[in-house]
Amino acid sequence: MFVQTMTMEEILIVGVCKEKAKDEARVALTPEGTQKLISLGLQVHIESGAGLLSSYTDGDYSAAGASIENDRQTVLSKSNLLLAVQAPDETTINLLKPNTLLVSFIWPLQNKVYVDLLIKQKITALAMDTIPRISRAQSMDALSSMSNIAGYKAALMGAHKLDKYLPMMMTAAGTIPPAKVLVLGAGVAGLQAIATAKRLGAVVEAFDIRPVVKEQVESLGAKFVEVPIEEEDETESKGGYAKELSERNKEKQREVVHEHVKKSDIVITTALIPGRPAPRLISKEMVDDMKPGSVIVDIAAEQGGNCEVTKPGETYNHKGVFVMGPLNIPSTLAFHASKLYSKNILSLLSLLIKDGEANLDFDDEIIANATVTHMGEIISPFVKENSK
Ligand code: NAI
Repeated sequence: MFVQTMTMEEILIVGVCKEKAKDEARVALTPEGTQKLISLGLQVHIESGAGLLSSYTDGDYSAAGASIENDRQTVLSKSNLLLAVQAPDETTINLLKPNTLLVSFIWPLQNKVYVDLLIKQKITALAMDTIPRISRAQSMDALSSMSNIAGYKAALMGAHKLDKYLPMMMTAAGTIPPAKVLVLGAGVAGLQAIATAKRLGAVVEAFDIRPVVKEQVESLGAKFVEVPIEEEDETESKGGYAKELSERNKEKQREVVHEHVKKSDIVITTALIPGRPAPRLISKEMVDDMKPGSVIVDIAAEQGGNCEVTKPGETYNHKGVFVMGPLNIPSTLAFHASKLYSKNILSLLSLLIKDGEANLDFDDEIIANATVTHMGEIISPFVKENSK
């Protein structure tokens, strides 16, 4: 393991710009977060309007003690710690001052060209998505914060698109049975989708290849769909993530999933395997077998989708079945997504900052794994191991 402690001998000055990506409404730092950083002895520069799409005004930031700047260039020229949601584009990276620290989502395994740019420009870049998922890092876990939102919103999107009630309704005109919701993948997003669909009154079933989640699914009042997995296949990695299945087990899984998909009104798919394309769980034939008016919400669309007919970024009608492939769901709940993300960032910064300066202690597994690049080198053991 790479061991080095490095103090960046400059008082940190924080910059936050308007996110440039299309449909990105989140902001990396809230006024509440600004106040916290100022109390730690830092200065904060915010691009005017940076928080507006998530309902935080320039006035809120000013009241929290930030300086509001008219444009992006001014923010970049005054700061040496840039906080962002999405990895800033090449133009922004080229405008950063030497030794600037960047904290944002980076997805280094999927964005190798971007990592090369960070190396070339000698940026110290910390990725919110490579923080190890250990108990000590829970308060920094932006992946969980955002997945939780995605799962919640997926259930609402499905309910909104379905032309049926979710709860059982006893009316003078007759009794309406509750809708059936199937959730595939019961990680952070899946469990929140289950909880939300239950709160809305649906009958919920869920499936995951990791049998350890059965208890969590049942504790939310949903039924766990069992698929007998042959022993030679391990379904879980050391870090608690899913592993890819053998062909025989995949076939078994497909048969069971097919039976349950056919009977469901809403299918929410959330299955992911870190660093790999999303596993295909729903074939075109399965969708063809669904009842007209049923809905699929494929929140794995960003990684290619769990359903064969998903079109990322679109909702369309496939032979009477609505197939939704929403992208960047957390941005649709921008106020709370920004609030949680800002708290996750602050938690990481409180580990990083000592006396107003950045103390890069690479003996600390959180700092080491989060630091994708520093002084023109890849530091993160997680990134090194997984990019082989
Ligand atoms: P994820 O977003 O990578 O995957 C979502 C779910 O899809 C997982 O539950 C996975 O098992 C499932 N999946 C993958 N392939 C599948 C297939 N073929 N069929 C059905 N399901 C499939 O995972 P997420 O939600 O980010 O976290 C997963 C686990 O990571 C957690 O349940 C937990 O064990 C661990 N974790 C630990 C944390 C901590 O200790 N701080 C925080 C968050 C997660």
